[in-house]
Amino acid sequence: MPDAIFADPRLATLYDTFDGPRDDIPLYVAIADELGARRVLDVGCGTGEPAVALAAGREVVGVDPAEASLDIARGKSTDVTWLCGSADVVPAQLPEFRADLAVMTGNVAQVFLTDEDWHRTLGAIHDALRPGGHLAFETRRPEARAWERWSQAPAVTRDVPGVGTVTGQLTVTDVDLPLVSFRHMYRFPDGTTLASDSTLRFRDHDEITTSLHSAGFDVTDVRDAPDRPGMEYVFVTQRADIPEP
Ligand SMILES: C[S@@+](CC[C@H](N)C(=O)[O-])C[C@H]1O[C@@H](n2cnc3c(N)ncnc32)[C@H](O)[C@@H]1O
Repeated sequence: MPDAIFADPRLATLYDTFDGPRDDIPLYVAIADELGARRVLDVGCGTGEPAVALAAGREVVGVDPAEASLDIARGKSTDVTWLCGSADVVPAQLPEFRADLAVMTGNVAQVFLTDEDWHRTLGAIHDALRPGGHLAFETRRPEARAWERWSQAPAVTRDVPGVGTVTGQLTVTDVDLPLVSFRHMYRFPDGTTLASDSTLRFRDHDEITTSLHSAGFDVTDVRDAPDRPGMEYVFVTQRADIPEP
């Protein structure tokens, strides 16, 4: 069940405006270019900004369980195939589709709180890739302790197209590592206030590497996120069953 911030239509409408400029997306387009990827799977595509950027010259499938976010994504592009669900709906709904590259942008990897969910997701991505296909994703480095900055973040006011002036406030509600919980509160122009509660899991480098190996991926590179230096790992991995040339 995705968080209200992605699944409630009134909150999903705010996502792009409050997320701000997407300086993270060029990294994923560059990785797709570098790997010569023609078919891309975007897992947890949300409102679709990265998928739409990746779709220039490529076949892209975006999957996300939050229908309200997907509705926004559908309004941005008809070139992307948008699917509702987790990664495992891809082989079920598009049995012929085999991606050269799967991505998880926007720290989607952190929404999988249990080992079981994380392994199931990695397994489903593995199945949706061609042999030797790649998976690239980012995850916040626990040692950068992002939640300490979140707890000091001031309220933010933005003009949201079609909605008006909205004020958002982020509050950290619990730190019980590796889990960090927080609440987004938004006040709408009519005075309505809506809240969304989230929990993310902060996995360290070794835990991620071990989980990738057990899901059948080799780690080919771990990069820094150019837009958030020192804050995130960007894992570039490959299905271990690389075909003979
Ligand atoms: C922070 S948003 C990132 C959205 C998008 N990747 C981006 O960069 O704009 C996290 C996304 O993960 C999605 N999500 C939650 N649970 C998921 C699951 N089990 N499988 C795939 N995506 C999931 C949410 O619905 C949400 O759209």
